[in-house]
This record gives sequence, C-alpha cells and structure tokens, in this order.
Amino acid sequence: MTSTFDAHERAQWAGRAVAYRDSLAALCAGPASALLDAAGVVGGAVVLDVGTGPGTVASLAVSRGAAVVAVDAEPSMVALARERVPAADVRVAVLPSLPFAAGLFDAAVANFVLNHVGDPLAALTSLRRVVRPGGRVAVTIWPHPPPVAQRLWTDIFAAAGVQRPADLPRLDATADFARTVDGVCGLLRLAGFSGVLGSEFAWVHETAAEAWWNGPAAGIGATGAVLSAQDARTRTRIRSHFDHLTAPFTVGDGQLALPTAAVVASGAVE
Ligand SMILES: C[S@@+](CC[C@H](N)C(=O)[O-])C[C@H]1O[C@@H](n2cnc3c(N)ncnc32)[C@H](O)[C@@H]1O
Repeated sequence: MTSTFDAHERAQWAGRAVAYRDSLAALCAGPASALLDAAGVVGGAVVLDVGTGPGTVASLAVSRGAAVVAVDAEPSMVALARERVPAADVRVAVLPSLPFAAGLFDAAVANFVLNHVGDPLAALTSLRRVVRPGGRVAVTIWPHPPPVAQRLWTDIFAAAGVQRPADLPRLDATADFARTVDGVCGLLRLAGFSGVLGSEFAWVHETAAEAWWNGPAAGIGATGAVLSAQDARTRTRIRSHFDHLTAPFTVGDGQLALPTAAVVASGAVE
C-alpha cells in the first residue's frame, strides 16, 4: 500500500523533470563520481541507477564503460533520462518494488533518493536483492544538521516568518533514521549489507542565484513544498530575504558559491 509520504512524493515530482534538470540537478550532481566509486562501478559493470531523475549518474556510469539500467518513479524523469542517456535502458519503477531478478546487477546506486521514500529500509533491502553476491550498493542523502547551502533556506524561511505547513507529511517515525554517516551505515547493516563504509563528501556548489531560487519556486523538494504553500505576498517577502541572505555568497554576476555536503555510504552483498 502507498503511504501518505510516498503519495505526496509522487505528486511533488509529477511533471517537474525539466524544472529539476534546470535547477537542482546540478547540486545533486556534486557527489555522483564519489557515489559510483563507492559502488565500485568500473568499465564492463552492469549497474542499476535508481531514482535516476534526468540521468546524471546513469550518464556518468555509461561514460565509465558500464552497462546501465536506470529507473525512476516519475515518468517525466524517465523521458528526460532516455533522451539524455540513449545507451541506458531506462524504465519506470517505484521503490521498494524493483522489477528485476535477484542478483542481476554488479552494483546499484541511488543518488539523493533514500530521502524521498516512505520506507528507506525496504528500499535498501530491495536494492540488496537485485545485486549479486560481492557487488555493492551505494547511496547518498543530505546530512542533518544541514550544510550551509541547505541551511540558507531554513534561515530565509525563518527571516520571512514562514512555518512548514502542518499538513506536509513526515516520514513515519518508525521508518526514520539519523541523517548522518552513522545513521545511513546503521540502516545499511540493518538491511543485511556487510563491509559497510560511509563518509561525508563536501564541495562548493556554484550556481546562478536564479537557479537556486527556481527549483524551490517550481515546487521541488521539501523547500519547494513549503514555498508552494505560500500566497503571492508571502512569496515576494521570501524572495527579498532570499536576495539578502544569499548576497554574501555572491562570486560573480548573479552567481553563488554555496558550501554543501552529502553523506555517501555503501555496503556489500554477501
Ligand atoms: C532528488 S531527485 C534525484 C535524481 C537523480 N538521482 C539525480 O542525481 O539528480 C530524486 C528522484 O527520486 C525519484 N524518486 C522518488 N521516490 C522514488 C521511488 N519511490 N522510487 C523511484 N524513484 C523515486 C524522483 O522521481 C526523483 O527523480
């Protein structure tokens, strides 16, 4: 049965592939190479990229010489990924259900997807099932406490006096896990992985200020859900705090340099 959280996620991503590609996909691309390294993806490997979005990680894996299958729950993402990565086999599939035989892949990756599923443990267990013994599964999530780039949005909303809408679904407490290296590694062990490794990957995300605004303004992610719930006057107020609080990160004409970080964690299948 689809949880309220998962139903909200389906609605939030629906039809937003192009807006995501043109805004926050560049942010999520930051740890793509570290993610593939963590999963041991080399030329000739058969790799599954889950929650592929517009195909950033799938494309990188193809450029490493891997044979790539990619899936996403959102059909508009699948369409974009097919266009961008013609060498990959791209399909619609919704975690935790993966329509593949057990042990089919040498590796599986999920870049910023575990934070979008209603049952993260079931998602990892499903990823483990489709990878062969000796293969690895690697995932990324945003850490908590949030890095500077993500914290900026919290500060912008606080300055504008905007609260998270009470009706936004939260992950069920029994399904949740700590958004830290230890938290993700613990969940991987619980899902039956061995040889679990994790670290924080830090980088500076350079972006046009407009792209940093446009993703959430188009309703993308948790920030987008908060922004979408506001009336026009409140959005105008939020925008003025956005301009003020992002100003110290300006590095050029309309460009921002935002320090950020991801948890990158992986485990082996026995
Ligand atoms: C933050 S985006 C990351 C996209 C991509 N991995 C990247 O690096 O840009 C999250 C993606 O996960 C997909 N997604 C969310 N829940 C999913 C689920 N239960 N099963 C499969 N894909 C899911 C969304 O449709 C979206 O494309």
